[in-house]
Amino acid sequence: MPDLALTTLTIRRPDDWHLHLRDGAMLQAVLPETTRHFGRAIIMPNLVPPVVTGAQAADYRARIMAAMPAGADFKPLMTLYLTETTDPDDVREAHRSGVATAVKLYPAGATTNSASGVRDFEKVRAVLETMAEIGMPLCVHGEVTDRDIDIFDREAVFIDRVLKPLRKKVPDLKVVMEHVTTKDAVDYVRDSHKNLAATITTHHLIINRNHILAGGIKPHFYCLPVAKRETHRVALVQAAISGDKRFFLGTDSAPHTDPAKLQPCGCAGIFTAPNTMSCLAEVFDVAGKLKKLEAFTSLNGPGFYGLEPNADTITLTKGDPVSYPAQITTADGPVTVFDPGFDLHWHVDA
Ligand code: DOR
Ligand code: ZN
Repeated sequence: MPDLALTTLTIRRPDDWHLHLRDGAMLQAVLPETTRHFGRAIIMPNLVPPVVTGAQAADYRARIMAAMPAGADFKPLMTLYLTETTDPDDVREAHRSGVATAVKLYPAGATTNSASGVRDFEKVRAVLETMAEIGMPLCVHGEVTDRDIDIFDREAVFIDRVLKPLRKKVPDLKVVMEHVTTKDAVDYVRDSHKNLAATITTHHLIINRNHILAGGIKPHFYCLPVAKRETHRVALVQAAISGDKRFFLGTDSAPHTDPAKLQPCGCAGIFTAPNTMSCLAEVFDVAGKLKKLEAFTSLNGPGFYGLEPNADTITLTKGDPVSYPAQITTADGPVTVFDPGFDLHWHVDA
């Protein structure tokens, strides 16, 4: 039940621990949508070609800084795309110099631009051991890619077949299971007491698979990992509102133009950067847990990454429904903003 007396909430400025900013014209258009509310974000490296080396991450960071809107105070935290030929010394140096905050593991073929990802985990063992030694987190896209595994089971199977053995082999490695979508993943993270956390997206707290498939197919709700059945969404909400330090926000805001999404074979990705904080406030309010919002968006993430929370704050105020544009315009074409399907009453003063 909402706490009706609570109509204004000031929290530390939030961070986004999983974000796709893309490059070029798309970067220019989507970056202000994140910098408006967020202080920092973990930037995904799945460009074409991917951001693999420390030098490539430094170049990409420079392009992001060049696209920064005037007056923005935002720090991109860069990641390196793990391949079977990643050099452990390059990773060590990128971390030491502050160029890269984390390394991203995509199982080959799991999602958008993941063809250079990992097939044979023994080939990345030396990199993972180096990361464990220097305390650099591994961000994991946790889905197996086997054709014979049902797409709705790919996260749960990944935990058993890949993540458990990997964490046994390199127990000191800090792992973030990204964009978890299942009760299985929530339970696994809750049962692990060291070196494991999970990010949860805004959209996976709001949609289940019916939103994608019932009453006509909705490409704007299609993302990977795909939304699961309602029991899983409820488990994600319980984890997010619990205040448990191991769960924090990673929006996975992933812009694709409408022509790229509205295809017989459309792209995976949901663009939530503009309205994420209003959506989350609504979810936490309806659950009667607004006071846990700050832990989820602003405290637990820095805690896991060994960083201080942002020093400044944002204020959310409840009032008449706030509207966000249905689309943003980019030089590449229009990008549709996530529609939560309910009114948003929380205004954000950043
Ligand atoms: O839905 C998704 N979109 N999931 C991912 O893992 C990648 C992302 C993208 O880059 O578009
Ligand atoms: Zn992503």
